[in-house]
This record gives sequence, C-alpha cells and structure tokens, in this order.
Amino acid sequence: MTQLVALSGSLRRESFNTALANAFAELAPAGVSVEVFTPAGVPLYDADLEAAEGLPEAVEVLKERIMSADGMILVTPEYNQGVPGVLKNTVDWLSRPPADIKRVFGDRPLALCGASAGRGGSRAAQYAWLPTLRALGVRLWNGGQLYLPAAGELMGDDGRLVDNDMRERVEGFVRGFAEFSGHG
Ligand SMILES: Cc1cc2nc3c(=O)[nH]c(=O)nc-3n(C[C@H](O)[C@H](O)[C@H](O)COP(=O)(O)O)c2cc1C
Repeated sequence: MTQLVALSGSLRRESFNTALANAFAELAPAGVSVEVFTPAGVPLYDADLEAAEGLPEAVEVLKERIMSADGMILVTPEYNQGVPGVLKNTVDWLSRPPADIKRVFGDRPLALCGASAGRGGSRAAQYAWLPTLRALGVRLWNGGQLYLPAAGELMGDDGRLVDNDMRERVEGFVRGFAEFSGHG
C-alpha cells in the first residue's frame, strides 16, 4: 500500500483546493491511499507559544501522518500571486523543531499543485513555493504539473471536482506521483 498525505492550504468550507485534495483520494489507483488535511486547528506561529507549550496538537498529528506517509501532496491556493499565509504558517510549524526537518521533509517525495479562481490556476503560487521546498530538502516530483484555473467552473453544486477532463488529469497526476513515491 502506498500512503500519501494531501495538505490543502485552505480553511474555506467549499475550498477548490480541498476539493482537489479530495479528488486525489477519490481517484487514486488501487493500492494507493490519500489522507486529506487542511490547516484547521493550526494557530499562528508564535515562538513564545512553542517555548511554553511545544507544538500544537494539530501540528503534531500532521507531522506524524507525514512521517509515516510515502509522499506528500501540497495543494496550494494562490494569494496575490504568492503563497497563502495560512498554508505557509502550517508548513513553518511543521518545520519545528529544526532537528525534525529531515525526518518530516528531508528527501520526502513531494508533489506541488493547486487551484485558483484566476486564469493562472495557482501557477504563480506554485513557483513561489520552490525556495521554501528547497530549504526543507524535499524530493520534489517534477514528472507532472497540475493547475486548476477558474476552478469554480470545474466544481459541481456539491463542491466536488466534476469536470471530466480535469478528473482525468488528476487521476494521471496521482498515479504518477504514487509511482515516484516508491510503491505505485
Ligand atoms: C487575499 C487573496 C488574494 C488572491 N489572489 C489571487 C491571485 O493572485 N490569483 C488567483 O488566481 N486568485 C487569487 N485569489 C482568489 C482565490 O483563487 C480564491 O479565493 C480561491 O477560492 C482560493 O482557494 P480556495 O477555494 O481553496 O480557498 C485571491 C484570494 C484572496 C482571498
């Protein structure tokens, strides 16, 4: 079994990015599971809070799930052509303490993708993530690219990804990344 974690960077109930993360779980090939997370429950990073209480529960749980997964999919919204603070904040917490960075991110297969309301489909945000991912030492999968432009038009009334062409691309993306992650 290949286990993947998909982290959507949005707290919005009808988030396009969470819909994309859920589509990975739905369309993953046999033998591949995708567990979906969002930044829910993750407070703003505060070094004083960390010193007094350690990592928040939501961060500990996510760290554990990432460490036991074969790979991670970062599903990023785009804010002002950059990374959304909510997701960057979560990744920053996940990088604490520095002694754990290698265990959480080091050499971990990571796929980058995203959805946005605009025509770029999160392209600018995905590029903006690259310096951070490099700093964390992940093994970035470059075998596929996935952008969901005008994402609202790809979703059904129930908030699921329904566009057939995009569902096929999502299916190919998760298949390719699962293979890269080791078991496929
Ligand atoms: C502060 C802010 C900045 C945004 N900037 C962009 C942008 O640069 N490009 C874009 O395509 N959409 C932009 N949007 C629109 C988002 O793509 C849209 O809100 C989308 O629904 C966010 O993803 P979500 O549905 O997963 O929450 C922005 C939204 C916000 C709130």
